[in-house]
Amino acid sequence: MDPVQDVLVLRDVLIPGGRVCDLTLADGKVTHLGSSGSADRICKCSDLMVLPAGVDMHVHMRDGSQAYKEDWESGTKSALAGGVTVVVDQPNTIPQITTPELLADRVALAGEHSFCHFGINAGVTPEADLTGMAKGGAMAFGETFAGPSSYGEALSRTDLHSALTRIEELDGLATLHAEMVREGDDTSLPAHDRLRSISGERAAVQMIMELAPPDLRLHFCHISAADTVSDIRSTGNATIEVTPHHLFLSLESFQSENSYGKVNPSLRTEKERKRLWGCWEQIDVVASDHAPHTVSEKSSSFEKAPSGIPGVGTMIPLLMTEVIKGRISLADVIYKTSVNPARILGILPAGYEPGMRADFALYPKEGTPIHADEIFSKAGWTPYEGQIGVFPELVLMSGEVAFDNGTCIRTDPRWMQGRGYIP
Ligand code: DOR
Ligand code: ZN
Repeated sequence: MDPVQDVLVLRDVLIPGGRVCDLTLADGKVTHLGSSGSADRICKCSDLMVLPAGVDMHVHMRDGSQAYKEDWESGTKSALAGGVTVVVDQPNTIPQITTPELLADRVALAGEHSFCHFGINAGVTPEADLTGMAKGGAMAFGETFAGPSSYGEALSRTDLHSALTRIEELDGLATLHAEMVREGDDTSLPAHDRLRSISGERAAVQMIMELAPPDLRLHFCHISAADTVSDIRSTGNATIEVTPHHLFLSLESFQSENSYGKVNPSLRTEKERKRLWGCWEQIDVVASDHAPHTVSEKSSSFEKAPSGIPGVGTMIPLLMTEVIKGRISLADVIYKTSVNPARILGILPAGYEPGMRADFALYPKEGTPIHADEIFSKAGWTPYEGQIGVFPELVLMSGEVAFDNGTCIRTDPRWMQGRGYIP
């Protein structure tokens, strides 16, 4: 199959709302909605669910000295295979992204190896050149560590205050890792949950809300509990992100000392997991916090094992399984994985209307078992092994075929800057 297409038509697409029509894609965008004219390629969609492709606004693509965990090629192939065509990379790399030069290096590395569109966030540390990185095209600021995590040190209250003030002056988007961590022996999942508790998450959110200038655009990453969602909703208009692992996994999913379930913020009890689903309507974004670590790292003692769970390739497939079961709507998946993250980041959204970005993922109406060796990530494991995911058959990026029945094709991945889309 020729990966370079001039005009591609998606035939008989069911648009949410009930209309069935053709979509014509050219020059990276949707050009026509209705019956189609001539085309270089036609994809028949009557048996498929056609979704605007995902924007995963929280991934850790590693690479460099951590390429043994993941690199841009493996991580973004995993994204495409899971219906995601835009990833936003977090700056807690080694070294951290704290200057315009380091940001430019990261952009160059991704530009050379990424298979999908990408944005790069600016690191927020006391020494970081926030202004330089904003001018250099950073997508957003953070994740800003209000609590310590793997490859991230917590900012002091004073440093956090001055960073948030500066980000507001730059009209930037501040993304926050909100945790307050207690001292103690981190020897099991229940201990990890106690040290990184829901009350610590709520206290960190409270502190951030107090420190943040009123006009700052705030986005809370990976919120893990229903009470925290309510706190954020009742005190301001910050946006709320949750992860697939807090929606689909709980402490009860693992044996107590199994570090494959070790992640920050911690997994919660099954009861709390269900309560988080109870706030589904109030959640703006589902993002993966794709944090790949290898099997050998995760197999070391609980205390030593790094925190993090891979998930960019399984996030939308797991949500699509819930759609097929009738538990959530297709529109919810589209909003929380594509429309809302694009709006929050200020990038052109993918969608069905003329002028929108022509990124689509085409899903069958039934799922298949998830297998780590089929989802491209170098991590080599997934906590969802054997569970059912609905994976896309075809993924289009800027109107070109970027994933076709298990094969990734490198087309024309673009760097997307903050508050703007580079056509
Ligand atoms: O569990 C986590 N792992 N949480 C984070 O905030 C960072 C991430 C990582 O980079 O491994
Ligand atoms: Zn985080």
